[in-house]
Amino acid sequence: MQRQDQIREIKILMDLVERKTTTMADSVMEIDVAEYTSQEQFDREKLELFRNYPQFVGPSCLVPNPGDFYAFDDTGIPILIVRNAKGDLNAFVNICSHRGAPLAECASGQARRGKMFSCPYHGWSYDLDGKLIGIPFGKEGFPGVDRDKLGLRALQVEEKYGMIFVMPNPELKFDIDEVLGGIQERISGFGFEDHHYLGVKKVHTDFSWKLNMDTFHEFYHFEFLHPESISTMAYSNIANYEQYGRNHSMGSPSLRINELKDKPESEWEPREFSSFVNYIFPNTVIFVVNDHFQTWRVYPISPDKSVVYHSMFIPHKPRDNSEQKIFDDYFQMINDVAVKEDYGLVDKVHRGLQAGLDRKVIIGRNEPGVQNMHRQLHDLIDA
Ligand code: FES
Ligand SMILES: [Fe+2]
Repeated sequence: MQRQDQIREIKILMDLVERKTTTMADSVMEIDVAEYTSQEQFDREKLELFRNYPQFVGPSCLVPNPGDFYAFDDTGIPILIVRNAKGDLNAFVNICSHRGAPLAECASGQARRGKMFSCPYHGWSYDLDGKLIGIPFGKEGFPGVDRDKLGLRALQVEEKYGMIFVMPNPELKFDIDEVLGGIQERISGFGFEDHHYLGVKKVHTDFSWKLNMDTFHEFYHFEFLHPESISTMAYSNIANYEQYGRNHSMGSPSLRINELKDKPESEWEPREFSSFVNYIFPNTVIFVVNDHFQTWRVYPISPDKSVVYHSMFIPHKPRDNSEQKIFDDYFQMINDVAVKEDYGLVDKVHRGLQAGLDRKVIIGRNEPGVQNMHRQLHDLIDA
């Protein structure tokens, strides 16, 4: 987002604050409760949204240098992303061609000597382009095998506008601009290429991945669920909602936004007075606030279990231990708000869903983000 767009956004947010309202959907939406608990629905979502649909992996600065990799195994297909010697990204199925061990642990890291992956099981090794380059005891043990055919299985990976996407299903292809639907205009300029990756917190939850996502899609709950935390910083039930393909972005005004009325526009620092929840379908939120951003990636495990990866990206590498501690404490604080306040409550919501009563979940006109996720999901799954 360029400065003039940030200023424009601030004006929209100030107007919403003035009128005490938020962007509205056309009508109220209802969802059958069984959608959250049905095994059949879950199986379709896991297949169509996580295996057959391109997945946001992270910003480019997750793997900034040649040899940097990131591996994860939450879509049904184990995935290894690595930056090669030329600086391009490769993605592979993270399964060794010998007997199937993962080449890299599910984490971010550096390839061995920045150059290769060596299987932890029997030591077969592969270069950063997935080529099989070594078989211990190969001559005697594996005579006649065609090494050229035993490289790692490639997946489509795309890196554009500072974001990385991968297609888990090796049989399928995607167009990154179509997937983004224009949201890059809204979120570029926030430093996805050059921020410092502070780390990740992985949280397992005993509720539906969709309930997990729902909490990010509206600010209606701030004053009730977060009276002592988020509500001391941001307005409840005020958001500027914008749609981009299947994705959306919601601008939120800081409680201090009216301070800008006393300042000439040329002195405004828009990022200090607004934050953005950017939703990348189906499972990612990129939360941009002040000078940094965070990603939340949510994956289904079963109808009543999910896992979330909360990652923090800060403007620069901490200069010393005390700065490191400031960032670490902040990261922990944000994570605590979500885990204790949102997840603590949503866990109980899921217990209510499991009661097996035939009823509907009602999503208001003031919750267009929640509506969007469920609408898009249906659009894809019902097709
Ligand atoms: S499974 Fe990888 S070397 Fe055996
Ligand atoms: Fe919340």
